[in-house]
Amino acid sequence: MGRARTLAQVYRHFGEVDAAGTSPLYEGVAVALSESGEALHAIEAAPARKRHPTVILAALHDLALAGRAPALAAAYAAADGDAAAAAAIDTLLRMTDAVVAVAVRRKPRADETGRCAVLYPAIAEAARRVGAEAVGLVDVGCSAGFNLNVDRVGITYGNGQSLGDPSSPVRVSASVVGDRPLPARAMPEVVARIGVDLDPVDVTDADDARWLRACVWPDQPERAARLDGELALAATAPPLLLRGDAVEVLPDAFAQVPGDALPVVTTTWALSHFPLESRLRFLHRLDEAATRRPVAWVSAEGVGVAPAIPTFGDRRASGHSIIGLAVFEHAALHAEAVGRCWSQGRMLAWLGGP
Ligand SMILES: C[S@@+](CC[C@H](N)C(=O)[O-])C[C@H]1O[C@@H](n2cnc3c(N)ncnc32)[C@H](O)[C@@H]1O
Repeated sequence: MGRARTLAQVYRHFGEVDAAGTSPLYEGVAVALSESGEALHAIEAAPARKRHPTVILAALHDLALAGRAPALAAAYAAADGDAAAAAAIDTLLRMTDAVVAVAVRRKPRADETGRCAVLYPAIAEAARRVGAEAVGLVDVGCSAGFNLNVDRVGITYGNGQSLGDPSSPVRVSASVVGDRPLPARAMPEVVARIGVDLDPVDVTDADDARWLRACVWPDQPERAARLDGELALAATAPPLLLRGDAVEVLPDAFAQVPGDALPVVTTTWALSHFPLESRLRFLHRLDEAATRRPVAWVSAEGVGVAPAIPTFGDRRASGHSIIGLAVFEHAALHAEAVGRCWSQGRMLAWLGGP
């Protein structure tokens, strides 16, 4: 009983605080679930760490998008809150095993191209520093690998600058804090796109792509349209996905980058998921790879998360992240912080050279 009450409180809080104002549909569904003892009992069939509303609501949405919960799909399409709440409860009760199976298999995802606004100038700057005319991108903790299309999206900044491909169907915008301009240099040609993840999302797989869509709340059509654009773009040049622990897989990833290209490893909000010791081993892997040729690492991580990257003296958990640029060359590591960013790259301040 105590656990059910706790779960009820979690769902009510999610509806009334997290979803309120953003998603009227999820506000209504989450509150309805919190008030249904049967629904909460069904959710308890999932392992404890998979009972959170973001996971269960995405699993229900996934079944709706797959055509397996037509009443729920119709209610979401009609933005009918009462019908959605009734259909969500009905689906949970009738298809408990299916909902739990999706929840157990999947992680909540929030793949966004927004990170590209931060990555692009830093990758271009890394290439300039070593005089590289081609780069091979290796995104660690890549999820669906949208970071690997950094050169194929059009990026506009609040200060009037633009980078990337102006003819791209995928547009990214970011505000710039302060009056320091971003480096205007274009990235060199990208000759390899490699994603590394314990559990990568393959954009060419219908089930994987549907899961990304399922993680977008059903009354956020602009986000859904943006995701569809990103999926379509990614599917035209799908990355090579390497599944496994980054520390183990990185040597294979470097081996896939042609010898005359600069390997540029990118991490965006990934390293906090690594134990501290793994972060240090990750750094060691970059150092090892740099015995044969220069290697660069561009990071956007919370303050103090990326090993060796300075922090401007900022406090940890300050609510912003540090844009790091590290170049391993001639047995030396040059690591610096080149900027700060907020809201996963939708706002940034460039503080590095040139
Ligand atoms: C919070 S997500 C970040 C995803 C993406 N980089 C972004 O900016 O949204 C963290 C990702 O790192 C992956 N991950 C966690 N530990 C890992 C490891 N040891 N090796 C490779 N990937 C890992 C997870 O599977 C997950 O996809």
